[in-house]
Amino acid sequence: MKPEIKNLLLACFQSKELFLDLYFENCICIAISEDYDVYELTKYQRIDFKLAGVLFYNKEANLIQVFGVDPRLRGKRYGFFLLKYVTQYLIPEIRPKGTIIRLHVRVSNKRAIDLYKGLGFQIEERVESYYQYTDDIEDAYLMSYST
Ligand SMILES: CC(C)(COP(=O)(O)OP(=O)(O)OC[C@H]1O[C@@H](n2cnc3c(N)ncnc32)[C@H](O)[C@@H]1OP(=O)(O)O)[C@@H](O)C(=O)NCCC(=O)NCCS
Repeated sequence: MKPEIKNLLLACFQSKELFLDLYFENCICIAISEDYDVYELTKYQRIDFKLAGVLFYNKEANLIQVFGVDPRLRGKRYGFFLLKYVTQYLIPEIRPKGTIIRLHVRVSNKRAIDLYKGLGFQIEERVESYYQYTDDIEDAYLMSYST
């Protein structure tokens, strides 16, 4: 995993929530720069831009597995533009129309939930103690979006 991405994710999540090498093996990694340019990163690509946010999409499972914006840059719509690119441009290019994309989010994570709802995600179910392997055990909402 590239150090820039690893550092950003460690600033966003508890390390127990991250399975860093696994994500890079199984997912498409999409990054947004401080200039709001979006990049699909290959494993060995150099990051020659200032990284603002990153998202990992598992295309076999149709799951968004990781999504985070640098804590210093939150509230500037980086997350919105990154997720919008992935759901409205990237996935429709590589998957048939009507594909269901899913993600899990902590029930307390209002900011992320509002963002997902704003882009058309809906709550499918509440999953009890989904984050049981973390320091603060919590339920998740399973949310979904149809392309
Ligand atoms: C969730 C996260 C990716 C959002 O990224 P961001 O770039 O800060 O979000 P944006 O600036 O694009 O905001 C998009 C929407 O989020 C919501 N939002 C933004 N700031 C908010 C705040 N302070 N309080 C509540 N909602 C907020 C709003 O709905 C906003 O839409 P609006 O701009 O039309 O009002 C970011 O907060 C993050 O990295 N959090 C930690 C990691 C995480 O929780 N990831 C998601 C795991 S499922």
